[in-house]
Amino acid sequence: EKGGFPSFMEKEIHDQPDAVLQTLLGRSDIDGKLTLDELRIDPALLKSVNKIIVLACGTSAYAGQVAKYAIEHWCRIPTEVELSHEFRYRDPIVDANTLIVSISQSGETMDTLMAVRYAKEQGAKTVSICNTNGSTIPRESDAVLYTHAGPEIAVASTKAFLAQITAAYLLGLYLAQLRGNKFQGEIKDILADLGKIPAKIQEILDNEEPIKELGRSMADAKSVLFLGRHVGYPVAMEGALKLKELAYIHAEGFAAGELKHGPIALIEEGQPVFVVVPSPRGRDSLHAKVVSNIQEVRARGAKTIVIAEEGDEAVTAYAEHVFYIPESPTLLAPLLATVPLQIFALALASAKGYDVDQPRNLAKSVTVE
Ligand code: F6R
Repeated sequence: EKGGFPSFMEKEIHDQPDAVLQTLLGRSDIDGKLTLDELRIDPALLKSVNKIIVLACGTSAYAGQVAKYAIEHWCRIPTEVELSHEFRYRDPIVDANTLIVSISQSGETMDTLMAVRYAKEQGAKTVSICNTNGSTIPRESDAVLYTHAGPEIAVASTKAFLAQITAAYLLGLYLAQLRGNKFQGEIKDILADLGKIPAKIQEILDNEEPIKELGRSMADAKSVLFLGRHVGYPVAMEGALKLKELAYIHAEGFAAGELKHGPIALIEEGQPVFVVVPSPRGRDSLHAKVVSNIQEVRARGAKTIVIAEEGDEAVTAYAEHVFYIPESPTLLAPLLATVPLQIFALALASAKGYDVDQPRNLAKSVTVE
């Protein structure tokens, strides 16, 4: 049942091309129009939404943070992402024009369920992005958009994360389509680019040996930092979470721009720092800014490990190790950049002899508050 892999986690990492593909399938027509009739929520209602709040915990919350960049860009609807367990206790502003999007692999996370119930009581409309058919959160929500990643057995989430980003993007594109804003023309292109993601993930998996080797060689690391900007920021936090969960190593993800506001003080000789670099073809000066962040930590002795887009030569001078991912539009890059980080954590934890499917102290679904 592990498909020939030594662990469920490794299998599930390798299931990711299919997890994304299955989540995309049947949700748009050949003209590039999204057909999310399964949502069964009145389109007029969705049109009247003036605020989106994404509620989730852990990895699912990082998927929400990635999606926020895309949803705000495509829909121009203010979008917040909040940890479910924080949301309820701060007297949040929620009304009938608020769309709550909960994200949960299991559909049973008590913190998220309670947050969704609370939002419903305040009159909000609730959509669930969920990987588990018929589970509690989708049953209690007004609508559901299932991720079709297939059952995720390993405690640490991998394929569900990529499927959640994919589903949240489809929801964002659907809202943009309904609202008929200026991104109409782009929807078809983005869908086409999403369609190319599974093959690109496969390409990363086919070339996983060097990152595995790096993971094995770093089994003695005491602390690993991860930096990213824009959508690379939640990817950095997800990379850090995988390492904490699986390898029991101190790991932290930072927004690269925040470095100079404090975290750079942590950098000393030999400190491993992963940097998720945005595409040099992307907008603004994002790429240049991140490259200078790599220089800054390198100059202070960091061991820099860079995830960059194929053909990006600008990073090589400052990187101890570079792992290239295939080209993609900036917003889709998290579906690729996350994969080497997962493989790294898996390899490092395996080298330490830990059970990657059942890390200590963790449960697959957290059904207590
Ligand atoms: C991370 C992980 C957890 C879950 C979190 C939410 O690898 O597995 O952080 O993502 O407990 O779980 P769901 O998505 O089931 O609500």
